[in-house]
Amino acid sequence: MVVDDINFTLKDGRAATLRSPREEDIEGTRAYLIKSSGETHFLLRYPEECKNFTYELEKTIFNDMNSSANGAMLVCEVEGKIAGTCTITRDRWIKTRHRANIAVALLSEYWGQGIGSKMLEALIDIADKMQYVEQIELEYIEGNSRARALYEKFGFRIVGVRPKAYRLKEGTYLNEYIMIKELQREGK
Ligand SMILES: CC(C)(COP(=O)(O)OP(=O)(O)OC[C@H]1O[C@@H](n2cnc3c(N)ncnc32)[C@H](O)[C@@H]1OP(=O)(O)O)[C@@H](O)C(=O)NCCC(=O)NCCS
Repeated sequence: MVVDDINFTLKDGRAATLRSPREEDIEGTRAYLIKSSGETHFLLRYPEECKNFTYELEKTIFNDMNSSANGAMLVCEVEGKIAGTCTITRDRWIKTRHRANIAVALLSEYWGQGIGSKMLEALIDIADKMQYVEQIELEYIEGNSRARALYEKFGFRIVGVRPKAYRLKEGTYLNEYIMIKELQREGK
């Protein structure tokens, strides 16, 4: 779905906008995807695995997310640059459509500026308004204390662990933690 633009101010005073992606964001989003993948091992892919995200694929992803009733993607723009993206996807099946999964990530130069918090606020607001959704789910990788602090700040709690979810190139295994937040809503 397409959401209204959210304008806000970073901790350092710069203006930022959270909004649904547009075609002119494709190159910036591809650049962010490749760079952020090399800045932390807490994200799923290595930079060379992002090459499949061609201009055309990214365009399809934007169109699919913007036209879907089951989800939304937001980009964060700071001074004309894509600082990061976040997504929410509601499960499509009758038995699981009360669950939505979220993901957030930013370029490292934008960490600690309050963007993650603004993204969580926006995603929770979308989930609150999305038909059927009763709980929001997410995963984070062992050691990602910044992400964990962000999620706990918004009321997520750990409900499980997937051992050895990641195996880094040099052989280190990392566990993945599963967190959920239950929504208080009327007329479930
Ligand atoms: C995780 C991530 C999305 C957080 O976004 P962010 O914009 O840096 O987060 P915020 O600035 O809104 O800070 C959120 C909270 O984290 C906590 N926090 C901030 N810096 C921290 C640090 N260095 N260590 C631990 N917690 C920290 C604070 O509680 C903060 O809340 P406060 O500002 O109200 O005190 C971002 O750092 C990121 O993209 N990291 C790399 C990719 C990634 O790990 N994505 C998540 C995958 S699960």
